[in-house]
Amino acid sequence: MLTCVTSPVLSPTHPHSSSGDRGPLSPQTVGIVGSGIMGAGIAEVFASAGHTVVLRSRSAEAASDVLNTLAANLSKQVQRGRLEAQRQNEILALCTTTTRLTDFQKCEVVIESIVEDIETKIALFTELDALLPSNTILASNTSTLPIIELARATQRPDKVCGIHFFNPATTMSLVEIVRPITSSDHTIQYAVALTESCGKTSVHVRDDAGFIVNALLFPYLNNAIKMYERGTATMSDIDIAMKGGCNFPMGPFALLDLVGLDTSLSILETLHKSSPSATDEPALLLRQLVSEGKLGRKTKNGFYTY
Ligand SMILES: NC(=O)c1ccc[n+]([C@@H]2O[C@H](COP(=O)([O-])OP(=O)(O)OC[C@H]3O[C@@H](n4cnc5c(N)ncnc54)[C@H](O)[C@@H]3O)[C@@H](O)[C@H]2O)c1
Repeated sequence: MLTCVTSPVLSPTHPHSSSGDRGPLSPQTVGIVGSGIMGAGIAEVFASAGHTVVLRSRSAEAASDVLNTLAANLSKQVQRGRLEAQRQNEILALCTTTTRLTDFQKCEVVIESIVEDIETKIALFTELDALLPSNTILASNTSTLPIIELARATQRPDKVCGIHFFNPATTMSLVEIVRPITSSDHTIQYAVALTESCGKTSVHVRDDAGFIVNALLFPYLNNAIKMYERGTATMSDIDIAMKGGCNFPMGPFALLDLVGLDTSLSILETLHKSSPSATDEPALLLRQLVSEGKLGRKTKNGFYTY
């Protein structure tokens, strides 16, 4: 299966190699935990680059939804002439889903992309650490949470880092490689090579809340909600203004709905807690929508209705 699809070649050290040789990165087996917006997108990114993907979802239904969505996305690309039909089958053949973390035994790296909640992530890292070979790299796709807390939940803190994709993972070119003080050079080099093998551009960032992008982006998004709350302008006019006036591809409310309002609230809470002078308390309207279960595009209802 691995030889069907050609993947770009880079030169990191294979995580299971003890010699430190820097041959090309062969197709890897990548475990992904979480089948939400990001888990599904990240699975598509890796399989499209020729890596084998094992995606773990808590329910078999959600897992099969991921495969159906992937098949539909690839079919659209074939119809638009962007992908050969044969490659569609090859990419699909690289993806399997499971409900068990024990099915990650053969993975060189496991990327966690579950709910943005530190206690839930710590529990998962503790479990993964106990189950998986000691040389498996464990990464988190968290938007803001401290990677060091996940590293310290394991017996392999040198093999834990952040690999932070952006939404939608298939089209956004950036990946932030987040380095807690415990990460080894090897882990970071591997993370860079892995993401670059998928055609992504990586940047290095210290393990500070929000990393680069969200630390700068979310205070702006929060301010947009507060501006609307003050009655300065309508949501739609604020969105139109930031698109037309700043050349942003989408306005703040459309972007918050895309990210997910629960995830956005969690990001803002973390940023506010870590630096109250740099990021205000999350806007009340955001809290209210989340408590009503209006989470944005994923629930078809957020600041806008879909
Ligand atoms: N949405 C974005 O724009 C975006 C971008 C980059 C990174 N992220 C990060 O990616 C991660 C996932 O975000 P998402 O947008 O895919 O969220 P989502 O709400 O779409 O999916 C969350 C996933 O977590 C699972 N989950 C929920 N509670 C769980 C638990 N107790 N144990 C195990 N799994 C649980 C859900 O079943 C689901 O598969 C978060 O850490 C988020 O900060 C999100």
